[in-house]
Amino acid sequence: MSAAVETTTLAACRGVGVRYLSGEVQVVALAKVDLTIDAGETLALRGPSGSGKTTLLHLLGGLVLPSEGEVHWKGRSLALLDAAARGEARAAGIAYVFQGSNLLPNLTALENVAFAAWLAAKAERQTGLEPAELLALVGLEGKGDALPTELSGGEGQRVALARSLAQMPELLLCDEPTGHLDSDTAGRVLDLIWALRERFDFALVLATHDPGVAARCERQVELADGRVIGGPR
Ligand SMILES: Nc1ncnc2c1ncn2[C@@H]1O[C@H](COP(=O)(O)OP(=O)(O)O)[C@@H](O)[C@H]1O
Ligand SMILES: [Mg+2]
Repeated sequence: MSAAVETTTLAACRGVGVRYLSGEVQVVALAKVDLTIDAGETLALRGPSGSGKTTLLHLLGGLVLPSEGEVHWKGRSLALLDAAARGEARAAGIAYVFQGSNLLPNLTALENVAFAAWLAAKAERQTGLEPAELLALVGLEGKGDALPTELSGGEGQRVALARSLAQMPELLLCDEPTGHLDSDTAGRVLDLIWALRERFDFALVLATHDPGVAARCERQVELADGRVIGGPR
């Protein structure tokens, strides 16, 4: 046995392919992807638009099932989680932050976080922090009553982060989280993500086409036409 530092594998893709039917035409979104994500690591998924980044994040979050191959979460096939895939992923501690913040438009910032906390509690997965404390953690204590339309892009992403923390994620999937933001705001949102990681110790998989953003991650994987073509480790 080696005396190497022990790592826990959270998620793994083995020979994964995803095909979509677009009318009569089959679109290969991903092909033969092998990928392992260890607890606590930071991984950037790089690649141009259409290369398969979002599809890979959806696979890791159990939102899409592979057309071939398997996606495992802590050694269990995500396909077995099946019908309640979203709920199960939430129960497993997999959280999402999308490119636009994707907040529920009729709920205030605080209610968005509270709703996520309520779902997390149902899945027996709560941080122990009140929604207002989560908002304060992302620097938005004064914005609890604001509706999503009353928030700036950066604030919306902060609420989305607070919301994701409500489910105490072990894996945070971020899909171009700063894609709609100016570079100063983007930098601050990224700083916040890294600061939250320090505190909550989740693994981070972040899709981006921005090399500067990718460079913040310990590891990078490059996608092109649905295939992993490597990248600096
Ligand atoms: N629901 C869908 N139906 C058909 N084709 C899709 C669907 N989602 C993604 N695709 C196609 O799969 C490929 C990968 O898309 P995506 O994962 O969104 O890439 P990226 O996030 O890197 O831009 C693209 O060719 C895209 O057009
Ligand atoms: Mg995408």
